[in-house]
Amino acid sequence: QKHLLGIEPLHPMEITAILDLADQYVDLNRREQKHSDALQGLTQINMFFENSTRTQASFELAGKRLGADVMNMAMQASSIKKGETLIDTALTLNAMHPDLLVVRHPHSGAVDLLAQKVNCAVLNAGDGKHEHPTQALLDALTIRRAKGRLHRLNIAICGDIAHSRVARSNLILLGKMENRVRLVGPPTLMPSQIDQFGVEVYHDMEEGLKDVDVVMMLRLQKERMDGGFIPSEREYYHRYGLDAEKLSHAKDDAIVMHPGPMNRGVEIDGTIADDINRSVIQEQVEMGVAVRMAAMDLLARNLRAALAATKDVEV
Ligand code: CP
Repeated sequence: QKHLLGIEPLHPMEITAILDLADQYVDLNRREQKHSDALQGLTQINMFFENSTRTQASFELAGKRLGADVMNMAMQASSIKKGETLIDTALTLNAMHPDLLVVRHPHSGAVDLLAQKVNCAVLNAGDGKHEHPTQALLDALTIRRAKGRLHRLNIAICGDIAHSRVARSNLILLGKMENRVRLVGPPTLMPSQIDQFGVEVYHDMEEGLKDVDVVMMLRLQKERMDGGFIPSEREYYHRYGLDAEKLSHAKDDAIVMHPGPMNRGVEIDGTIADDINRSVIQEQVEMGVAVRMAAMDLLARNLRAALAATKDVEV
């Protein structure tokens, strides 16, 4: 692949290859000396048109640990504020010969569009309600390390599914790897075309969590609700917030995940989030750096192979 725009185009073998390489980067990241030269000489530009803590920080660290020259564009201070379009901004940066462009944008499809206009590899760091591929990959790595496998698991994705790119990318990835995925949440927060995913849908947490291996909680994404129905946080926590009682219906060794940012007391009880016997939320953050290192390393190998092939033709 030239870009990483979503999970949809990836073959299960490509997903496994990214996770296998990421496992090696987990080991590197735990050493005192964390550096490799996989991206030596390459330039990475991070363009975040939406707020981020985990994704932006981990892409920056990933690039630096692999030896790239990393630039974080301050989009709030860019000429976008003077009316320059996304495409003109991308073309301007493209003229500076970056090799890797990491882009987060509030509009679904914006990152795909941008990828068609530039010469370098583009990584989607989350586009609207569409996809967040590196989040699904880091979630997959977390599950594989905690459960010892990434197939034939019962996984419940709970909460605001309708507005979640994390849910969408995870649904696609976990389905490709032959897991049984359930969606659990209120009818108002389910996507309209849910049938296309071929998953079970539950509106009751007790039923939805029964005997699952993995409980993945999601944030209420009010910023994407566009004036639509917003549930009261109190009522939502009562019915859908993960607490000890609701979790007791999952398997005894079920793990609890959350992509962050987390709203304690809304979609998850703080005690559950901090319970190191059940919660793998901090592991997810750790896996995020390793997965982004692996994804950029593999894209850089493809870039170099394409360049070498061009040179062979010229000779
Ligand atoms: N999970 C995630 O994408 O978090 P950030 O918005 O902090 O990057």
